[in-house]
Amino acid sequence: MSSGGFKGLLFDFGVSSLKLENIVTRAEELFSNAENNHTLEQVKSKFLGKTGLITDQLKKLKAVPVKEKAKLGKDINEAKKRIEELLHARREEITDAELNEKILNSSIDVTLPGKGNNSIGSCHPITQTLDRISTLFNSMGFSIIDGPEIESDYYNFTALNQPENHPARSMHDTFYLLNHDFLLRTHTSPMQIRHMEEFKPPLRIVSPGRVYRVDSDATHSPMFHQLEGLWVDPSVSFANLKGLMREFLRVFFERDDIEVRFRPSYFPFTEPSAEIDMLFDNNWLEIGGCGMVHPKVLDNVGINTESYQAFAFGMGLDRLAMIRYKVEDLRLFFESDIRFLKQFT
Ligand code: DAH
Repeated sequence: MSSGGFKGLLFDFGVSSLKLENIVTRAEELFSNAENNHTLEQVKSKFLGKTGLITDQLKKLKAVPVKEKAKLGKDINEAKKRIEELLHARREEITDAELNEKILNSSIDVTLPGKGNNSIGSCHPITQTLDRISTLFNSMGFSIIDGPEIESDYYNFTALNQPENHPARSMHDTFYLLNHDFLLRTHTSPMQIRHMEEFKPPLRIVSPGRVYRVDSDATHSPMFHQLEGLWVDPSVSFANLKGLMREFLRVFFERDDIEVRFRPSYFPFTEPSAEIDMLFDNNWLEIGGCGMVHPKVLDNVGINTESYQAFAFGMGLDRLAMIRYKVEDLRLFFESDIRFLKQFT
């Protein structure tokens, strides 16, 4: 027999001295001692290889007397089959064990945070501006109210002293819905009417929100934001309105040297009316409109104009955000480009 390097593994035996069943037992023993597939394959060749024990036995058959040949041949083949079975079983065991060990060593800790971008989001700059302005007015005694973006023609125009065919209606390029009874509100001013209809004066509210107009360029978006303000009181005056606007802008822009100008203008729902302009880097920027609420508007909601006066204002929130953050194109706010928005976190 040529056992070669196998001698150390398999005790020193000659094939002749090892009975078939002992070969099987020995194979089983050595297979189970093999700790990896490489060793297992080496062990295998010592039994099933060209010069292996089983092959040796088969070779020896030639010399066996004819009457014993058939039985011995059968026995050898059975032993061979059994060894093959043992080998396969051990192979699977080793493969399973290796896999388990691999899983254990590279085990995934599902409690660890993921590798992806799990940074916390933040409010949109316009939302931040809206919140900041609302909080500011709130601290000055104004309630914050909210209203519908789909508005009736009555609240958006008629009640605000703009009856049908009123030329001022063409100032607003309106998105109408289905028929002309409903529309996407073109300004937040309808909230003046809704609030005065529902509550008795004195009143002090601001109402921020989205408004819509058929318009789109660097300084106009079809959807934008306004903040409406209304103060109804027995003695409120245009002087109070000017003082309030100045104070608001001073606090909002965190600048004491703010220059504000009230430029005479026209709005159907205020009389007198003015545009509010602010000096910024040597340019007068228009940031909203204002005025004393028109007596017809107060009449429409049943407020006695002998006992009450009111002023109102409407400001473009996006405009204020653009100035504050020095953003030159309004559309950037609404394109959802994360690189732009990240600057405001
Ligand atoms: N609603 C006006 C607009 O969108 C802005 C405005 C002007 C609101 C004067 C007011 C106001 O309350 O008094 O153009």
